[in-house]
Amino acid sequence: MLITFEGIDGAGKSTQVKKLKKYLTENNHDVLVLREPGGTIVAEKIRDLLLENKHDITPIGELLLFSASRAELVQHTILPALEKRTVVILDRFYDSTTAYQGYGRGLDLDVLQSINAIASSGLVPDITFYLDISPEDALIRKFSEKSIPLAFEENELDRMENSGLGFYQRVRDGYMKLAEHNDRFVLLNACDDPQVLHHKIVKHIVSLFSANRTSTEI
Ligand SMILES: Nc1ncnc2c1ncn2[C@@H]1O[C@H](COP(=O)(O)OP(=O)(O)O)[C@@H](O)[C@H]1O
Ligand SMILES: [Mg+2]
Repeated sequence: MLITFEGIDGAGKSTQVKKLKKYLTENNHDVLVLREPGGTIVAEKIRDLLLENKHDITPIGELLLFSASRAELVQHTILPALEKRTVVILDRFYDSTTAYQGYGRGLDLDVLQSINAIASSGLVPDITFYLDISPEDALIRKFSEKSIPLAFEENELDRMENSGLGFYQRVRDGYMKLAEHNDRFVLLNACDDPQVLHHKIVKHIVSLFSANRTSTEI
């Protein structure tokens, strides 16, 4: 089973991935958690290139590097794990590419869809949890993580509104469109209590497991 988590930075993906991994492991499932880019020798080298920040990479170059890293991970790690019936949890997958590079940066959505399908060998997640949060609330979470005093936040929010927030709003709108048009998406309010979110996620996973069991029995 392939489970993916999506949402802008600060939405709570890593928090929920950790809780779900613990739950599934305690319930005797083999679980593999992966984060892109990286995960194989070649994909790690691509990760270094992308994150080193010392190279000027064009948006298309960036897209293709992310996709190359994804292709390596899918072929060398994800497909073999799924073959062994391991539950694979991905903290972001190609929906991030669609939301960020497509809706956020304005790259052609049809082109992205083709590249995404090639990079992932046509693999589609069984379920995708989208944690929805406003860019403003996500920013406030980041500030509180770094213990920046509250009085500072409003100035910073004003400054971000002119640049970053517009981009993240487009990304959020893009995710909402994806959630509307794909049955595998589960839309979650990222501002719910983490434990409440975890219980909702587990409920969906349990019903997916039982649906899969029924379909193999038939
Ligand atoms: N449901 C939630 N409600 C409030 N705060 C949360 C919630 N989920 C996560 N957080 C906090 O928000 C911050 C970002 O969470 P994280 O899981 O790292 O997000 P992401 O991986 O999506 O960037 C962390 O400080 C985390 O403790
Ligand atoms: Mg994270």
